[in-house]
Amino acid sequence: MDFKTTYDGYVRIVEAALGTYFDDTAEIAEPLKSAMGYSLFSGGKRLRPVLALSANALLGGDANEALPVACALEMIHTYSLIHDDLPAMDDDDLRRGRPTNHKVFGEGMAVLAGDGLLSYAFEIMLGNALKYPDNAQGHLLAIRQVASGAGVFGMVGGQCMDLYCQDGGEADGKVLEFIHRNKTGAMIVSSLLSGLYLCSPDETQSGAVRAYGSDVGLAFQITDDILDVVGDAKKLGKHTGSDARAKKLTYPALYGLDAARKKVDELVGSARAHISCFGEKAAFLTELAAVLGRRES
Ligand code: IPE
Ligand code: IPE
Ligand code: MG
Ligand code: MG
Ligand code: MG
Repeated sequence: MDFKTTYDGYVRIVEAALGTYFDDTAEIAEPLKSAMGYSLFSGGKRLRPVLALSANALLGGDANEALPVACALEMIHTYSLIHDDLPAMDDDDLRRGRPTNHKVFGEGMAVLAGDGLLSYAFEIMLGNALKYPDNAQGHLLAIRQVASGAGVFGMVGGQCMDLYCQDGGEADGKVLEFIHRNKTGAMIVSSLLSGLYLCSPDETQSGAVRAYGSDVGLAFQITDDILDVVGDAKKLGKHTGSDARAKKLTYPALYGLDAARKKVDELVGSARAHISCFGEKAAFLTELAAVLGRRES
């Protein structure tokens, strides 16, 4: 099956499953439900769920068992975007091609929509785990991995340093790498590993996938930085130039565009090499790394 068909197939099942958590039977108070749904159902590449499902498929996992985890990852990612766009953080007004959440629902409701998506994600993963008592260990490992990727040892920790370092101080490559590996890389690693952990991987397998995710994750955020300089806002669904305006510490700002592009290419090559041990089974993830390396949105 070709790459695009597989990717789109994953997106289709994720979108359908996400919808079930917000259908008429989900009695979430308004306008919270609308605010959560507004950002969750406004496009997006659905990369994190695709990573979870494809890593799960690498070891022949049951997609139905992994699907709630995949959906939870997208909810957590969407929460991170809603909060990232707030005036107190990046102060952006366009996301996924629409006005940002706080522009439509107000800042307080945007904070709550993010909070709601985060806690709902864990409720969904834990509810799913209870349906698979024979694989309780796999689910515990997966959920712990999601928590650490999202939290103080991952995305929240990275966002903290991103905020703290903007607007001044000595530019430092070590801090920049910490920021990118944490604010973005950690959720990418956790997406892959959570899907994999449901299939009882051995240490060589989880090490290979972790190393792949770590390279892809850093490359993904460097590309995001590059696109903020040279990308097309229409394709991206968000304004460009935000990083320069906010004086963010980014790869193009610190090293220049050419060096940033070269770093992405190196990371993509190294990511692909890390999963070559899976042979043909890794064809999708191998291609995905390359596709992400040259993405325009
Ligand atoms: C944007 O993530 C924020 C970053 C971590 C760079 P994506 O580029 O995956 O955004 P969506 O999900 O496609 O909207
Ligand atoms: C955000 O990085 C990473 C998150 C955890 C949301 P950016 O601030 O660069 O993401 P964009 O460019 O606003 O999507
Ligand atoms: Mg940000
Ligand atoms: Mg931002
Ligand atoms: Mg950005």
